[in-house]
Amino acid sequence: MKLFVDTGNLKDIEALAALGILDGVTTNPSLLAREPGDYRQILRQICQTVKGPVSAEVVATDAAGMLREGRDLAAIDEHIVVKVPFTRDGVKACRTLASEGLRVNVTLIFSAAQAWLAAKVGATYVSPFVGRLDDIGATGMTLIREILDIFDHSPFTTEVLVASVRHPIHIIEAARMGAHVVTAPAAVIDQCFKHPLTDIGLERFLKDWEKAQAARV
Ligand code: G3P
Repeated sequence: MKLFVDTGNLKDIEALAALGILDGVTTNPSLLAREPGDYRQILRQICQTVKGPVSAEVVATDAAGMLREGRDLAAIDEHIVVKVPFTRDGVKACRTLASEGLRVNVTLIFSAAQAWLAAKVGATYVSPFVGRLDDIGATGMTLIREILDIFDHSPFTTEVLVASVRHPIHIIEAARMGAHVVTAPAAVIDQCFKHPLTDIGLERFLKDWEKAQAARV
């Protein structure tokens, strides 16, 4: 399963890329709005840093506007994946952008039927939001299993990109189910590194080593 980071923050992206664990980035208007500076320049720098798929979302709500913005975003860098919301206009725009050879991430997916329709029009990725489903008392990961089941029985090459991730358990469940990609905030990726027994174990190894070295002199 590929790991993307869900952020527009270049420092976080650089730090994760330096670890060699990062396959791509997803942004959305809310995330980019938090970053100072020109969003086109930010996206260009992100692309240069990760050299993998970087989702950039349109803000137009009509198909013509999505096409205009999508082509414009794609011109920023070859790594840009155009993100469109799952609406009738989004589906229409996805079909056209995909037919032009652009990669499209259809976002705001909350049902298997939506994912299926997006795949039918050539989406490269569908982004089901697991955390936001959990937030309203549904089980987000159940949706991931449903979409993967459907795609397993279909000719689609669309990848399931698990989004709106809140904790490492979402990541592990996604991997166990065979999801293609997970995108997580930097803070959740950071949590994946942590285990108290690792810290305690390392401390003990180093102390034992020091003690043995001191006894030899
Ligand atoms: O980028 C889309 C998605 O991951 C948003 O997550 O935490 O705002 O529900 P969240």
